[in-house]
Amino acid sequence: SMRRRMLLGAACAVVGSAALADAQPVLLRFSHVVAPDTPKGQMALRFQALVHERGGGRIRVELYPDSQLWGDDDEMEALRLGAVEMLAPSLSKFGMAGVPEFEVFDLPYLFADLAQVRRVTQGAVGRGLLERLARQQMRGLGFLDNGFKQMSARRALRTPDYYRGLRVRVQASRVLGEQMRALGAQPVVLPFGETQRALASGVVDAAENPLSNFLTQGLAALQPHLTLTQHGYLGYALVTHPRFWASLSRNDRALVDEALDEALAHGNRLAEALDRQAMATLRQTPSLQVHALGAAEREALRHHLRPVADGFGRSVGAGLLRDVQRAVG
Ligand code: LMR
Repeated sequence: SMRRRMLLGAACAVVGSAALADAQPVLLRFSHVVAPDTPKGQMALRFQALVHERGGGRIRVELYPDSQLWGDDDEMEALRLGAVEMLAPSLSKFGMAGVPEFEVFDLPYLFADLAQVRRVTQGAVGRGLLERLARQQMRGLGFLDNGFKQMSARRALRTPDYYRGLRVRVQASRVLGEQMRALGAQPVVLPFGETQRALASGVVDAAENPLSNFLTQGLAALQPHLTLTQHGYLGYALVTHPRFWASLSRNDRALVDEALDEALAHGNRLAEALDRQAMATLRQTPSLQVHALGAAEREALRHHLRPVADGFGRSVGAGLLRDVQRAVG
């Protein structure tokens, strides 16, 4: 019948356009700010390898680690302008980029370990948070762990008194700024890519980093004291632009999506191991002293940071905070 011929024609057109679209070369530039030998760097490498293997070379993934292409100050703008296709900013960087719900991840002592983090990021709460990114023209594709932050300085930071007057580099996050002020320190917002130089030149005195970042940035040569405060979490959201995502054929999107899921699982498996390895290396670094806190010292720090957690806990929204705390269990 006529109807059947029309349907058949439409089906052929769809198959034809899909096949045509699949034949188009795709370039996916993935820019990030850390070294290759970190959970994010390794995840990116795995993602690239999987896409190249499965896409037969037609989908090319170009990796730009170490702020080579874009840095903290311009990467989100670059994504909006189509000058890069994929980013993995730390969760701390989304709050000031117009998605304040992400500030919840910066609350001091919210998580005790990565298992607790994953109950949030890998469940319904995490999915909801990724959906909020649409408001800022981003499509959230998943979460990745780095680990917990430790404080470094030219002295051991045993109790809150030791922070007084220190200029501490922080990421662009209201919570992290307030956290440093609560300790009597002065927060200085700097892009990650400028942190090493700022520490070397004395523009800032101290920093907070997960161990793999501290190690791979060579900070042990600049900051002789590392205090294991474990006071906050650092992880990432993988994002792309909805326009780029929509430009992919359905098959390409599925290929990229699956490769990314596998690469994220790989990075998340690696996170703890890289943290442990960095700890072992740092403990053997002659120029560095690593300090564990005693129970009373830990409690004093926690006590000083409690108002920050309480204050921002209210501002991220009672509902979200309750959902996160419920997921943590
Ligand atoms: C930082 O700015 O300290 C981190 O977000 C860097 C990173 O991407 O791990």
